[in-house]
Amino acid sequence: MDKNFYITTPIYYPSAKPHMGHAYSSIVADFFARFKRIQGYNVFFLTGTDEHGQKIQRAAEKQNKDPKEFCDEISKTFKDLSTLLNLSNNDFIRTTEKRHHKSVDHLWKILEKKKEIYLSKYSGWYSVSDEAFYSEDEIEDIDGNKVSKSSGSQVEWLEEESFFFKLSKWQKPLLKFYSENPNFILPETRKNEVISFVKSGLKDLSVSRKSFSWGIKVPSNKDHVIYVWLDALTNYLSAINYPNEDNDLYKKFWPANLHLIGKDILRFHAVYWPAFLLAAGIKPPLRVYGHGWILSGEQKMSKSKGNILDPIEIINNYGLDPLRYYLLKEVSFGNDGNISKEKLESCINSDLANNYGNLCQRVISFCEKNIGLKIPQINEFEAEDLQILDNYKNSFEDLKIHIDNQNINFYLNFIVEQLFKANKYFNDQEPWKKKDNRIRLNTIVYVSMEIIRKISILLYPIIPETALKALKIFNIEEKDIEFATILNNKYLFSEDKINKIGILFNKVTK
Ligand code: ME8
Ligand code: MG
Repeated sequence: MDKNFYITTPIYYPSAKPHMGHAYSSIVADFFARFKRIQGYNVFFLTGTDEHGQKIQRAAEKQNKDPKEFCDEISKTFKDLSTLLNLSNNDFIRTTEKRHHKSVDHLWKILEKKKEIYLSKYSGWYSVSDEAFYSEDEIEDIDGNKVSKSSGSQVEWLEEESFFFKLSKWQKPLLKFYSENPNFILPETRKNEVISFVKSGLKDLSVSRKSFSWGIKVPSNKDHVIYVWLDALTNYLSAINYPNEDNDLYKKFWPANLHLIGKDILRFHAVYWPAFLLAAGIKPPLRVYGHGWILSGEQKMSKSKGNILDPIEIINNYGLDPLRYYLLKEVSFGNDGNISKEKLESCINSDLANNYGNLCQRVISFCEKNIGLKIPQINEFEAEDLQILDNYKNSFEDLKIHIDNQNINFYLNFIVEQLFKANKYFNDQEPWKKKDNRIRLNTIVYVSMEIIRKISILLYPIIPETALKALKIFNIEEKDIEFATILNNKYLFSEDKINKIGILFNKVTK
């Protein structure tokens, strides 16, 4: 069995500081990476920054900075954010690195050698903000400005000599690829959009630019720089040491299992990228998931719109794990989501402080007072014990399958339901009234502890720091966490010492 899993985030433009939208993609990717690790997979999780192109060159010029110097500064804020978000990424790639340059250079040469690239002239619309070419019917006139219908960003007329990639030739092979790999693009609605775009006909794609210089030069013609998207997409190969296909990373991790991206860049990942790869004779990735947008009011939160919510500020005020939990739970995955401080606060108070924090607190302090700081001795479970314990066993396969389809909502709903049931169990069983029936009292505490253990394992990919604090009660360390142990109802060993637990979440008060 192949137990390797390669997951990527987009590599972000360091044209301005990161915002909540970037934090969102990264946190979701981290959730999957951590989940696959506790499933026993060998995970390679990649993120990074996309530093070439006209967008970056212009942003640097605006500040009178050399583009590389400019990128160094802002790329660092993205890297710092990945630390602040507690991402478990294995690498952070920058497209200004030598290893990447080498890999793009190589891919270009292959495409040229295979006659997939030819020199001609481009004339048409271009959005520097999206780094995208648009056809006449993809743009509209708003207040005298020509803008892209899909992104709303301004387009400008472009006319210059350019290399072209023979994208038109890949229309049929792409459609065949989609039908043979029905889960290549998710969610389903996005897949249909992509397929109808491809069906409507593909034009050859301009893949070089001549009018500016900030990029990787076309190997055979130094007047041109390679189109930033061909450059950027190749990062997924560069990080696993392409063009050396004989190395361990490449052999283990290509094709990538999951490119997690926002729906804004689906066309690049689901059309251009597999076409480049098929043309070069490289296997396309296994899946591209285009999630929805974090909105600010009605609009997409974006650097260019200036309507951003700063993740650093939220983390400083509320803590990281509340933010991670909130984004994963409250934004219905796949759809757009509006986020607000009010909703974040109610999430902290009800789910985290009341349901999870309180459960851990009351069970462990009850145990300490009545049994001592150890796992209680038990006999047999009763029906009501098994009823709650077996929920995990019964949902085990479903949880795995849903995660493998990126159905985060199912996973989160399961946890919320189990937290509710766990508190209800402890209330209904009233162990404080069972002081003359020690074995029943012990069993209720044991069952509650087993539930805390299982829920904490499920929560680990979402709120790793807090879940680890809770697992510390039972001396379970990060390296010991195994998803499959939620199947075991008697994992905890009677008489083993346990540890006290501090406050997991502070309630937000007005
Ligand atoms: O497109 N809601 O970089 P970028 C949710 N460099 N996610 C959001 C978001 C929002 N409001 N705003 C941004 C690029 N994102 C290219 C990618 S990949 C080879 C090159 C997230 O800085 C989301 O993942 O514009 C989106 O696809 C990505 O950031 C775009 O980041
Ligand atoms: Mg963007």
